[in-house]
Formats: sequence, C-alpha cells, structure tokens
Amino acid sequence: MAPIPIISPINVGHIDDVIELSKTKPDTIPQRFVRDITERPTIATLTPNKAHIITTPANNHHHHMPIIDFSNLSKHNTHELFLHELLNLATACKNWGFFQVVNHGVDLNLMESIEKMSNEFFMLPLEEKQKYPMLPGTIQGYGQAFVFSEDQKLDWCNMLALAIEPQHARNPNLWPKKPEKFSETLEEYSREVRKLCENLVKYIAIGLGLKEEAFDSMFGEAVQAIRINYYPACSRPELVMGLSPHSDGSALTVLQQAKGSPVGLQILKDGIWIPVHTLPNALVINIGDTIEVLTNGKYKSVEHRAVANENKDRLSLVTFYAPSYEVELGPMPEFVDANHPCKFRRYNHGEYSKHYITHRLQGKKALDFAKIQTRNAF
Ligand code: OGA
Ligand code: NI
Repeated sequence: MAPIPIISPINVGHIDDVIELSKTKPDTIPQRFVRDITERPTIATLTPNKAHIITTPANNHHHHMPIIDFSNLSKHNTHELFLHELLNLATACKNWGFFQVVNHGVDLNLMESIEKMSNEFFMLPLEEKQKYPMLPGTIQGYGQAFVFSEDQKLDWCNMLALAIEPQHARNPNLWPKKPEKFSETLEEYSREVRKLCENLVKYIAIGLGLKEEAFDSMFGEAVQAIRINYYPACSRPELVMGLSPHSDGSALTVLQQAKGSPVGLQILKDGIWIPVHTLPNALVINIGDTIEVLTNGKYKSVEHRAVANENKDRLSLVTFYAPSYEVELGPMPEFVDANHPCKFRRYNHGEYSKHYITHRLQGKKALDFAKIQTRNAF
C-alpha cells in the first residue's frame, strides 16, 4: 500500500521572526503580538526594581527566592551542614517550587561558552537559522513553539529547542553547524547539567523522607531537552509577552540566564507575579509537573512567564529533565492518605508529554490531563 501522505492539519498562519522584527522595525508591534488587555504584564511587574520591594514587613521575606548552596550537600561536609541545607532545599521546594543554586558544580567556563555561542547563533542571518526550522506542531529546531492556530497570539521570543537524551530522540539535522563547536559545547554542558539534575532529584527524595534513588529508579533513562530562548528588546513591553504563562512538563528545570541579561522571568506566588533576580553564576531550578504528581501536590510546579524588556535583549538556556517516555506515573503511596486524597490518576509519561506539546501554553492547564476531578461533597 502506498504510504498515506501526512498533511499537517495545523494552520498557524504567518509567523514573524521576532529578532528580525526588532532589528528592522524596532517601533512596530504587529497585532499578532499584542496581547488582550487581561493578558498583558502590568506596569508594576515590568519595573522589577520597584516591584520586588514589598513594603509590608510581614510578607517581605516571601519575596526572596531561596538560595541553595549545593556544596553543602555534595561535598563531604559536616552532617549538620548537610542537614541544614537539605532542610533549606525541602522548604524551598514546598514553599516556592523555585530556587537558585550556587556552587552547583557546572563548570563556569562551560556556562560562559554555551552562552556566548548561543548569542552568536541567534545573531546569524535568518537564512542560516532557518536551516533548522521548527515546523508547526514540533518542538525541535529554531522558531516559535506551541503555536497551533492562526488567531493565537505569539510570544515575543525566538527559540532554539533540541532533544539531548536519549540519543535516539535527537534530530541531528537540527543541530546548528554554526557557530563552530556549538554542538560539542552543548553536549558537554548538557552532561554537566544532567549530573546536577541527578543529584538534585536524589536530595529532593531524601528531603521528602524517601530513599535517595526513589525518583531516579522510577524515571528510567531520563529524557533531557534544552530550549534556548532569545527575547529581543521590545519598544512596547507592556503590550507583549516574552513567554506565555505555563508550568513545565518536566520533573525538574534548570535555567541559566545569560550574563548582562535584564530581569525577565516572573513566577506566580500567592497570586502575584514576582520578578526573579538571578545571582551571578547561579542556576535557577524549578519543580515541574512530574514531581507535583509524584508527591500528590506536596511540591508544586509553579506557574511562570517571561516578560520583554524595553532596552535590552535577553537570553536564557533552559534544560528540562524528565522521566523516560515509557514510564507510568502517579502519586506515590507515601503521599496519599485520609487527609491527602489522591489528586492525580496514573498515566504514561510519553502520553503526558504528547499532550503537553500539542497544546498552547496556558498556565497550569496541562496538568488537567492527570487531575482527578473531585465533586463537591455535601
Ligand atoms: C521555559 C521558561 C523562562 C525564561 O523555557 O520553560 O520558563 O526566563 N523560560 O526564559
Ligand atoms: Ni518554563
């Protein structure tokens, strides 16, 4: 039988390249990027230097994202120091779902190199970048992800997304040949970030009172992917969104914000969008949907977004660490009891990922896939 031609049912219309737009028409914001009023970032959150100073002392401490010194966990330090940092980590996961890690062990030169090469990639002529196109409905290559219709608003961002592990998930045609050594550097960087993720899930497990291999043994050969986001400066940042609000479909996410980048990442905490000020050389970690499900909601995958900046371009490198697609997941029995009824059904992680990447980013909506709908009891 002749193969049935696959015609993409997705009509996404024309998608402007944002980097080109900001270069050639810096004062124009095409309508497709202008958000509905209810979806615009508010002025307060766009001026982070003022916005993060919350004047009421009672809640002030809520506005400093926790900092974890990884060397206290990984080096052979005193037991007291280890326990102290483990408690910090557990508290950060529970109360924030986001934290910064310092002394994380990822080589700083390597972080600098991949950052520099990523910048060089995005500065290449459009024709060069379009040799690696992210086709509608896919999430690898250069372009815009999560666009599924012609009337959908677009993010003020271009990205290069690549699967890293397992090897067979890679599409070698989409790995940039320029700048020279990009692929090799990305590979080396990803190996180090993977080690950090493996260690983090261990310490997170111990902090939850589980065996250290509890998550890793469940994940199988963990899936790893990278998304390098480039947010050009925007003359009207109050009208656009850099990256739509979402939670990550991973177990853990590791974000590196390039040196000299303006503040742009914001997390939704207690109903308020809080700008994230990153420390130099730190990595920002967040809990993804997988860990929310496994812990039955004890640790939450926090909604976040990125806003554009009026004067400066911004670059971030985001690694996603997730279970193997074959794995079946659901809340672990340790987190389910009479006071904590089971919130999620069991599902196959591959199906979850498929669901995630075939819907537009919309807050925490992707997790509805796994939610057990409870009816109000009288
Ligand atoms: C992401 C993400 C935020 C940023 O890529 O999932 O949340 O600051 N990025 O780039
Ligand atoms: Ni994210």
